[in-house]
Amino acid sequence: LTDSRQNEPFDVVPPSASAMIESMRAYGYSLPVAVADLIDNSIPAGADNVWLTFHWGGRDSWIAISDDGSGMSESALVAAMRLGSQSPLVERSPSDLGRFGLGMKTASFSQCRRMTVRSVHAGSASVRRWDLDYIASQADVEQDGWRLLRRAAAGSDDRLQSYAPADGTVVLWEQLDRVTGNSSVSSEADQRAFHRQIGAVRAYLGMVFHRFLEGSRPRLRIFINGNEQENRIQPWDPFLQGHPCTQATPAESIAVGAHRISVKGFVLPHKDRLGADLHRDASGPEGWNAQQGFYVYRNERLLVAGDWLGLGQGRPWTKEEHYKLARIQLDLPNTMDQEWQIDVKKSVAVPPAAVRGRLLSLAKEVRQLAREVFAHRGQYGPRPARPDLVRPWLATTSGGRPKYRIDRSHPLVAELLRLAGQNAALAEAALQVIEETVPVQRIWLDAAEKPDTHLLPFEDRTTTDVKRLIQQTYEACRAGGMTSQEALDQLRRREEFREYEELIDEIED
Ligand SMILES: Nc1ncnc2c1ncn2[C@@H]1O[C@H](COP(=O)(O)OP(=O)(O)O)[C@@H](O)[C@H]1O
Ligand SMILES: [Mg+2]
Repeated sequence: LTDSRQNEPFDVVPPSASAMIESMRAYGYSLPVAVADLIDNSIPAGADNVWLTFHWGGRDSWIAISDDGSGMSESALVAAMRLGSQSPLVERSPSDLGRFGLGMKTASFSQCRRMTVRSVHAGSASVRRWDLDYIASQADVEQDGWRLLRRAAAGSDDRLQSYAPADGTVVLWEQLDRVTGNSSVSSEADQRAFHRQIGAVRAYLGMVFHRFLEGSRPRLRIFINGNEQENRIQPWDPFLQGHPCTQATPAESIAVGAHRISVKGFVLPHKDRLGADLHRDASGPEGWNAQQGFYVYRNERLLVAGDWLGLGQGRPWTKEEHYKLARIQLDLPNTMDQEWQIDVKKSVAVPPAAVRGRLLSLAKEVRQLAREVFAHRGQYGPRPARPDLVRPWLATTSGGRPKYRIDRSHPLVAELLRLAGQNAALAEAALQVIEETVPVQRIWLDAAEKPDTHLLPFEDRTTTDVKRLIQQTYEACRAGGMTSQEALDQLRRREEFREYEELIDEIED
């Protein structure tokens, strides 16, 4: 063939349907993420309700996601079933949660081999089905086909019924090889595993759509296996905004080119202020430590639930125990998908260079506050000064002039000198060299030029590092002849560990 306008010879090479669809199954969706991607379509379609049906039947289990949105006409449904139904470059309505024209298909194929959609629009119903086994069976046919079937599979019609009174859409997933695999309908363990997955879906949807589900007149209601109040998914607010001890930074709006993003930092209350039940609920689906960091919303739908977004000083911050109370809300419009590198699964967001600096300094502030609350400060006010706090450095004078010395009775120093034995003089010499060369000028200059920027003890260390050090100090105390209680008292009096009382409580003898 030759293009008559540009005179370019060409071959037509459409993708092989079976190969293409099979590879599209590997996007890495989990079941909760896949279900959320379908609900992303129900919201812009104007749905007030979404009903999820999880039917256990071993290998014949099925899942239906149905809504009372505006539905699709037959031609709209056929277009919607097309892979890449709309280019990511097309501008979307401001409330649209889609982007690539792929979500419904990739999410479905990631979980099942057969997806059937029944949609009712203006009172008339249409059905279409992608069936991977059918497509595979046609793989050797001439013009390898993207054959979209026009009927539900035999026996599936009943499963396509919806609670929706009129217009709406049902997406039915059957042959759930990725969800139930080779489960046996008679195995209780398999059934329990299926129910655990339902639990995970419930927790995840309550989190990612919490803004839609909140309030006395929520914009959206999601039900699981029923239509009653008790079947409704409850919203989960990551920021405990109703709690009197939650602290927040003022909301800040940042202009990025023609767009605006907004950020607001939260420090959640210390666990003593929450009580056991609330403390557990507030932890979130992944637990306290994993749920720290930024919460990135796109059109109010949560994309990233706790991540430091690659920010950090020097190297990227990792999630640390003592920052677990820090959660920062970040709102994006759907017009910045490229800048933020939003992916098909909508699970990644990367801050563009222009805002990293501002986000970094806000995050530092929130982390600092979170650390203080974690260590029993913040709301509790500064700790009472403890007259008996002991420091590893002693501020002394020599001939009336200041001089800084290392406390030889520090448990680790004492143990080091003891272990040095015959080489004690060498160890002592090393300590003296350190004491004689304290970089006073340098410290003074840095502190004057950049006040309050010096790292606090162990601030850039991991919790594991600090734990190990506390444990070693404890062992040194014990080796020096202290009882377990004396050693713990000693640790609690040490200045270097004053922020880590919780870790001292975890010491093992
Ligand atoms: N539940 C639904 N109600 C109405 N329209 C839908 C529904 N699900 C999908 N669609 C239509 O199908 C299109 C394709 O959906 P999808 O593959 O998720 O890609 P995207 O959401 O990126 O456009 C949507 O843009 C929408 O027009
Ligand atoms: Mg979509």
